[in-house]
Amino acid sequence: MVDHRGRRFAELIQRVSTQLKDFFQTKNDVLILSASGTGGMEAAVVNTLSPGDKVLAVSIGAFGDRFASIAETYGAQVMRLSYEWGQAANPEDVARALAEDRNIKAVLVTHNETSTGVTNPLEEIARVVRDQARLLIVDAVSSLGAIPVETDAWGLDVVVTGSQKGWMVPPGLAFISLSERGWKANESAKMPRFYFDLVRHRELLPKGQTPWTPTVSVFFGLEVALERMAAEGQERIFARHARIGQMVRNGVKDLGLKPLVADERFASNTVTSIKCPEGIEVAVLRRLLEDEYDLVLAGGQGKLSGKIFRIGHLGLVGEEDIRHVLESLREALPRLGYTLPAHR
Ligand SMILES: Cc1ncc(COP(=O)(O)O)c(C=O)c1O
Repeated sequence: MVDHRGRRFAELIQRVSTQLKDFFQTKNDVLILSASGTGGMEAAVVNTLSPGDKVLAVSIGAFGDRFASIAETYGAQVMRLSYEWGQAANPEDVARALAEDRNIKAVLVTHNETSTGVTNPLEEIARVVRDQARLLIVDAVSSLGAIPVETDAWGLDVVVTGSQKGWMVPPGLAFISLSERGWKANESAKMPRFYFDLVRHRELLPKGQTPWTPTVSVFFGLEVALERMAAEGQERIFARHARIGQMVRNGVKDLGLKPLVADERFASNTVTSIKCPEGIEVAVLRRLLEDEYDLVLAGGQGKLSGKIFRIGHLGLVGEEDIRHVLESLREALPRLGYTLPAHR
């Protein structure tokens, strides 16, 4: 590893954090924490809120629930706006909840709910939060870099993502940006923090350092990934994910399988959840695919455990990969007793 207080690392972190600003579509600093996405979520909460603050946690799945738990852990008064898993949040409900309680200071929302495969209408949610002048804190862990997130244009106050998702890098880094309103909130935020104190991170960025020893190796990977992403171009990356998302959805329906997300407008272009057919165990299917088809699919989380399986399709993924996934399912499912539709 290079010296993390030396010149090479300074140049590296400054280069990657500048490139990240393009992807965040923000003029504000993007700070890089040595943590997984959850560390970034915790940083978002503790740097902008105080114990006792009223917070509206919009939850459409496991990661929305996690955001609410983090805020609760640090003493926020959390009001939950929860939806059935597989559905998206309705911006009108958010508007109503905020109008009914003027004391709600901030809204926590997941952009792309990885546990269900739903993408929330973030721009519309942001509009209602802006209209009512509250703080909007966004978990963009499995969306940023793969599907559009316009941090400044949409008025997102805190945006968090993690290196192992659309960025195609090993786990270990979280990226976070704060708007001017976010930094203003930071001035009076009283939740305890030390490792994730963003002021310390912001102060050291001009020197090309982080307050604590960073996961240097992951920065090297990030630099390569960002170069590749810049070469492909954001619009083309988004178009590829949209194309591949559609290919997965069409392909699984063609196999007679049922996607969890009924309303395709909110179907994620980075992950697709599929209801496991009656009589087949998710764990058995996953093991067969891994052992014999070199294919790793995810199971369900929380209350969807054993009920769905998930195909991840973000980052370094192309049509060829998806053909392999669909072809493997077409072969493996009948081995477990599944009957393919007649035309297959
Ligand atoms: C939407 C979302 N939020 C948060 C997280 C948590 O990130 P991590 O597992 O990197 O801590 C994940 C991880 O899968 C995620 O998909």
